[in-house]
Amino acid sequence: EEEAAPRLTVIGTGYLGATHAICMAVLGYEVLGVDVDRHKIEQLASGEVPIFEPGLPELLTKALDSGRLRFTTSFAEAGEFGDVHFVCVGTPQQAGSDAADLTYVDAAVRSLAPHLRRRALVVGKSTVPVGTAARLTGLVQELAPAGTDVELAWNPEFLREGFAVDDTLRPDRLVFGVASDWAHERLRAAFRLVLDLGTPVIRTDLATAELVKVAANSFLATKISYINAMAEVCEAVGADVKDLADSLALDDRIGGKFLRPGLGFGGGCLPKDIRAFAHRAEEIGVGQAVSFLREVDDINRRRRARTVDLVRDLLGGDLAGKRVAAWGAAFKPNSDDIRDAPALDVARTIHGLGGDVRVYDPVALGNARRAFPELTYGESAFDVARDADVVVLLTEWSDFREVEPEALAGVVRHKRVVDGRHALDAARWRAAGWEYRALGRS
Ligand code: UGA
Repeated sequence: EEEAAPRLTVIGTGYLGATHAICMAVLGYEVLGVDVDRHKIEQLASGEVPIFEPGLPELLTKALDSGRLRFTTSFAEAGEFGDVHFVCVGTPQQAGSDAADLTYVDAAVRSLAPHLRRRALVVGKSTVPVGTAARLTGLVQELAPAGTDVELAWNPEFLREGFAVDDTLRPDRLVFGVASDWAHERLRAAFRLVLDLGTPVIRTDLATAELVKVAANSFLATKISYINAMAEVCEAVGADVKDLADSLALDDRIGGKFLRPGLGFGGGCLPKDIRAFAHRAEEIGVGQAVSFLREVDDINRRRRARTVDLVRDLLGGDLAGKRVAAWGAAFKPNSDDIRDAPALDVARTIHGLGGDVRVYDPVALGNARRAFPELTYGESAFDVARDADVVVLLTEWSDFREVEPEALAGVVRHKRVVDGRHALDAARWRAAGWEYRALGRS
């Protein structure tokens, strides 16, 4: 007497929504992906994933072939089709403010609600300031047709770019923020095929579910800035942050994950999430409780400036006319995402200071070119290193880690390398005659 699996819609087909829609269809649900961007919908419907995400193209083909996944731009169709509607649109930082921009979330709910035709659950997955779900509950009930019983729940998403498929199919945990037993049962039904794999679930209220997400990202950001703060201390006394981090990591209460020092965090999530959280906390009168997040942000920004300083110092104090090979543009390896990418920030600053910087990235080159046409780009790690005065590793792709320093020595003008991600084997590069430098290492 198991109830029929609910039919799912996924509103917003960016990193989060596309992955969620595709994975749920592969698991066995009937899924309708919805977006206002007709081009994106056409791409997905024809089997093309608009983003770089390992494993996703193959799963999209599989899902489309199964007949369980379709795409539309019509909210009327979504309301007609779905029992459970996932809201997966972006919440970027507002221009000129630290606050999150909720335009897309509000628009998704406003577009969907009038088309709900039967008892439905609207589930927010986007990262939002605490209190948003309560406000959206009112909105969805106000806009749904009279007599339609509609509820709202919150189910934060923790997937990492580059591992999105695995994180979606085998999440560490599922958090269900609900206001009723019915909503809880509906969510369980909508995730039954994931829960069957033994995924732990936390049932909680809407506000806690919203907070789990920003608390998790804030913790991760804090951990990175913590080790980078230690790097600053190491720099002052000639100590070695790599050995320090390795030593801390062996205490399993601390652990080595997100304790890698270097250029710091970027991307579409951590930087804007800590700012939005600090901003929201101030609005609700608990700004002091998370004021350390401002410090976390400052430490992180200083990493970029100090990396530029290190390059400049290595070149004798002046970047003008110096040829700089910039290895990496994406905010992290295995991604084509350049949102708030530390690598491009550094490259642009060096360019602004007169450096002749040449950028290469194995996957994000196209996005970088479009966003920053003023920079010069090359076709390979070796290509951009030709006649370089210094090679600067900014994103730790394995392509760069595997470069043989002996071979690279043949193309550069000066054997100088700045390891912005502590990703190269310092001893090996030094043995090959390179001047190796990294922040936080003497
Ligand atoms: C992050 C979180 O890790 C996910 O759990 C979350 O779901 C996601 O944000 C989101 O909110 O959507 P993501 O932005 O894909 O995921 O990237 P991370 O793997 O967290 O890396 C973030 C940045 O931190 C990168 O620039 C990376 O280079 C940097 N980093 C990471 C370090 O500098 N040091 C480390 O030790 C780890």
